[in-house]
Amino acid sequence: TVFDNEKEASKSVAKRISALIIKKQEQGVSAILGLATGASPVEVYKELVRMHKEEGLSFKNVITFNLDEYYPMQPTAAQSYVTFMEENLFNHIDIPKENIHIPDGTLPKEDIAAFCLDYENKIEELGGLDLQILGIGRTGHIGFNEPGSAPNSGTRLVTLDDLTRRDASRDFGGKENVPTKAITMGIGTIFKAREIILLAWSKKKASIIKKAVEGEISGSVPATYLQHSDQVEFILDTDAASEL
Ligand code: GLP
Repeated sequence: TVFDNEKEASKSVAKRISALIIKKQEQGVSAILGLATGASPVEVYKELVRMHKEEGLSFKNVITFNLDEYYPMQPTAAQSYVTFMEENLFNHIDIPKENIHIPDGTLPKEDIAAFCLDYENKIEELGGLDLQILGIGRTGHIGFNEPGSAPNSGTRLVTLDDLTRRDASRDFGGKENVPTKAITMGIGTIFKAREIILLAWSKKKASIIKKAVEGEISGSVPATYLQHSDQVEFILDTDAASEL
């Protein structure tokens, strides 16, 4: 779906998320959301905060699982995805702290595999993700599933692509400061969500969007795996859609 601009598109996504939250509230159950970081979802989160403040949208019945986190990473660091989520969403809404899940960048290496399995199990036990929000990296990654990721991959420790680290270098004051690894939900984890929305804005994303939507399905552009699913919607602005 192509919108004139990021703001209009983000408002429509926020509306869908709020409708899901309200529907689940009425059913007396939790809404299970998979959330993303990066610039792409920022306006969606802004609109959700506005709906909370001005329209009384409550997040008390919302449980969230973030896609990924750098490794190693202290949650209090300015570049952590914990800080990102707090600043852009969690600090401004009424979500209970215990409902928030973000991969732990502080774990000793030997504990990561068990943590990842537990992350998957928690999602399953809650009945699975109702909705997963995604951005897309210029390598075609979703979450931090870089080229070479298997379509059935689960939550795990991965090595970041050089281009991804270059793109993150501004946040870290130089590529040499960007962690080389991350913990990410897998492609298989993402695929289990009942609905997937991928957001992309600006000309900068136009060529990777073309590859993801129209290119041959291949592990060298992990986002092409999304072509396999009927539950996926790409929400774009005209610039990101300009090469389609
Ligand atoms: C990071 C995140 C991804 C995100 C991507 C795109 O690599 N781990 O989940 O989709 O950046 O970021 P942006 O939305 O800033 O373009």
